Amino acid sequence: MKILITGAQGQVGSELLKEAHNRKHQVYGFGSTELDITDAGQVLDTLAKIQPEVLINAAAYTAVDKAEQESGLAYAVNSMGSENLAKACQKQNIPLLHISTDYVFDGEKASAYTEADTPNPTGVYGASKLEGDQKIQQIWPKHIIVRVSWVFGEQGNNFVKTMLRLAAQRDELSIVDDQFGAPTSAIAISQCLLDILDADTFNQSQCPWGTYHLQSDPGVTWYEFAGEIFQQAKNLGLITKTMKLNPIPSSEFPTPVKRPANSKLDGIKLQQNFSISPVHWQDDLQHMLKNIRAITS
Ligand SMILES: NC(=O)c1ccc[n+]([C@@H]2O[C@H](COP(=O)([O-])OP(=O)(O)OC[C@H]3O[C@@H](n4cnc5c(N)ncnc54)[C@H](OP(=O)(O)O)[C@@H]3O)[C@@H](O)[C@H]2O)c1
Repeated sequence: MKILITGAQGQVGSELLKEAHNRKHQVYGFGSTELDITDAGQVLDTLAKIQPEVLINAAAYTAVDKAEQESGLAYAVNSMGSENLAKACQKQNIPLLHISTDYVFDGEKASAYTEADTPNPTGVYGASKLEGDQKIQQIWPKHIIVRVSWVFGEQGNNFVKTMLRLAAQRDELSIVDDQFGAPTSAIAISQCLLDILDADTFNQSQCPWGTYHLQSDPGVTWYEFAGEIFQQAKNLGLITKTMKLNPIPSSEFPTPVKRPANSKLDGIKLQQNFSISPVHWQDDLQHMLKNIRAITS
């Protein structure tokens, strides 16, 4: 399949590019300097030139706290950018696959969030992503939006890399233990998106277009996630010491944007419509740490 990927140098975009190549798709990956999704004309021209069969958008403004100061840019990329892509896909009559976030929810729900739950973002990042989702939903019916949570991967900045960096500097860390969610690897997200393209139900006259949640298991707090990272890193010889971890409430680690207390996503709809099962982040974490060990040793 001829696929155009935007945001191809990000955490997810870079893995998507690799995985799509591995699956022998004809892939065109564009970073932000080659294709700026806020530039409607550039988006239209690029699609007209490449003539892809599907567009996957991995581009986004993702700096959750910084977005409070840069709301104009966050909305330009996450809302207007999504709108530009939806209009261009409509013009070309091609499906748009788009990635969204657990941060569209406020985290007040006691159980995992389904697609039927009402979003209520707590900050600019979540609100701008939600507006982007809504633009796509309003403009172009042939869309699949996949909401994911707590992304980690070898490319870019994420919690796993932060923990490994801190382990080189300290012996003891205090980590928030009252925010519950699920880490999801960039590889798992890429595989999910490409599995959707491969599914029998995709792009048929009865294709179940719409919004989906990618469920990752098991659900953990950031404190528990950090514990697993250090345990695995030690088992693999990436670190030699035993890190002392202290669980703390969010009130002791204030951030400009309040994070959802619960942002676990329920993936039953994805399973029912595309036969895509929940993913398991612990195996993907091990894969990532082994690759880091191979690079650094
Ligand atoms: N990271 C998470 O924990 C997380 C959690 C839930 C959902 N998500 C969602 O997952 C998706 C992928 O996120 P990610 O973690 O891969 O983010 P990322 O590593 O920050 O990658 C986003 C990419 O988008 C590009 N970009 C920014 N502005 C652009 C523009 N105007 N035009 C074209 N490209 C632009 C960036 O390029 P530059 O670096 O050159 O600006 C970057 O390469 C996003 O939709 C995000 O909202 C992420």
